[in-house]
Amino acid sequence: MPEIFEDHYIPTLNQTGFMTLEVDEYSQEFINYASFFPDRPSLEIGAAYGVASLKALKQGAHIIANDLDNRHLEILKQQCPQDYKDRLTLLPGNFPEEIDFEEGSLQAVLACRVFHFFPGDKIIEGLKKIKHWLTDQGKLFIINETPYFGTTKAFIPIYEERKKAGAEWPGLADLNCFDPTKRPFVECTINLFDADTLTRALHEAGFKIEKLSYINREGVFPKSALYDGRESVGAVAVK
Ligand SMILES: C[S@@+](CC[C@H](N)C(=O)[O-])C[C@H]1O[C@@H](n2cnc3c(N)ncnc32)[C@H](O)[C@@H]1O
Repeated sequence: MPEIFEDHYIPTLNQTGFMTLEVDEYSQEFINYASFFPDRPSLEIGAAYGVASLKALKQGAHIIANDLDNRHLEILKQQCPQDYKDRLTLLPGNFPEEIDFEEGSLQAVLACRVFHFFPGDKIIEGLKKIKHWLTDQGKLFIINETPYFGTTKAFIPIYEERKKAGAEWPGLADLNCFDPTKRPFVECTINLFDADTLTRALHEAGFKIEKLSYINREGVFPKSALYDGRESVGAVAVK
């Protein structure tokens, strides 16, 4: 596993940013909810080295850990205590194109800081697939970076102008908007969400929203990635 960067998070091996060392309140809700249902699998999309999946396994959940990069999942497996390994399934692949489940087979899905790497059509397609895979009582826990995120603060005026003009995805930002110290860790454009974008995307995919709010990342992100307490936006959504 790479070294911790700026005392707070660990770089991914495929230039998709960093894995945090702590979970946010929405990921913690996923962990608590998934561990109530040890007999039914829950999925984490973009699990990286497993900060949330390992906590959920420790609490008794049955976890399918997905990531684009199988090297991340191999490290997750190495970090997983032997006692929990029978409740862990690794599922490498590009969500949503390369993974599939039976209708109504998943109890919970966590996608923490992954959907902001997707273009709009992939966001909606991915959400619809998750809805199909969840049980009737199942829940989606989703967290994304917002434009009010220190790493891309140069982008805020562009985003605000696009938002005023009514752009469908006002948060599409290219690498030039990134803090130069973070550019080596990200390869692609990013599609930052605000509360309105996340609300609209979830509704368009047919979800009801149980809870949605901004997340203050103080103490979890390095100072350079903080802005004004709205660094991420999270939601719990149901069918
Ligand atoms: C910024 S990291 C987030 C890691 C962790 N969930 C967290 O919140 O700290 C994004 C992770 O999502 C994975 N990822 C990106 N696009 C993906 C896709 N289409 N399917 C599956 N995983 C993806 C990356 O490989 C990386 O491990």
